[in-house]
Amino acid sequence: MGHFQVISHPLIQHKLSILRRKDTSTKDFRELVNEIAMLMGYEVLRDLPVEDVEIETPITKTVQKQIAGKKLAIVPILRAGIGMVDGLLSLTPAAKVGHIGMYRDEETLQPVEYLVKLPEDIDQRVVLCVDPMLATGGSAVLAVDSLKKRGATSIKFVGLVAAPEGVEMLQKAHPDVEIYVAALDEKLNENGYIVPGLGDAGDRLFGTK
Ligand code: PRP
Ligand code: URA
Repeated sequence: MGHFQVISHPLIQHKLSILRRKDTSTKDFRELVNEIAMLMGYEVLRDLPVEDVEIETPITKTVQKQIAGKKLAIVPILRAGIGMVDGLLSLTPAAKVGHIGMYRDEETLQPVEYLVKLPEDIDQRVVLCVDPMLATGGSAVLAVDSLKKRGATSIKFVGLVAAPEGVEMLQKAHPDVEIYVAALDEKLNENGYIVPGLGDAGDRLFGTK
């Protein structure tokens, strides 16, 4: 099976508990999603390759490190994935941003793709596919299908809350994709919502319900 990691730093756990509360405002929800995404990014990008670079300090010349090689693309799954983009961009401001538009049919829970717009050189980038919720896994699997169809070869999925069903489905369909989440919850309910979860991430982020 591919890499699966729950990033459970105390700061992340604390912020996630506030995020889950039903009385957390849209404004706070948006800020917290970005903060958690940034804290997760620090760990998700731990294996970025570095190379030697010669620099000059006020004292002397010296060989130090800089990030090398592959560049990054951040690809949110709309809508809720958008909430994680700014937090990640604060770590990697030069990353390109793609978009994959997808919604779940509320009856069948099947994801429906309505938009794909990616950086042209997506095949040469490490792709962070981001979506706060990994529920049945249908949306994440279809998004990764879409990325691979357009040439992406190095993909990490970054989410906030996952259900065991979603992790299993994504791992089975795409064992090469690394999965990072802030919490692995108990289960899905009969409507396909994560329990205990945080409700509908898109609606809470954008205040649409
Ligand atoms: C939510 C969420 C994921 C998807 C997860 O999006 O942001 O994309 O559901 O569910 P799955 O793992 O069962 O596919 P939603 O369909 O509510 O669209 P929205 O972000 O536009 O609200
Ligand atoms: N999408 C959400 O936004 N929340 C869930 O719990 C499941 C899917």
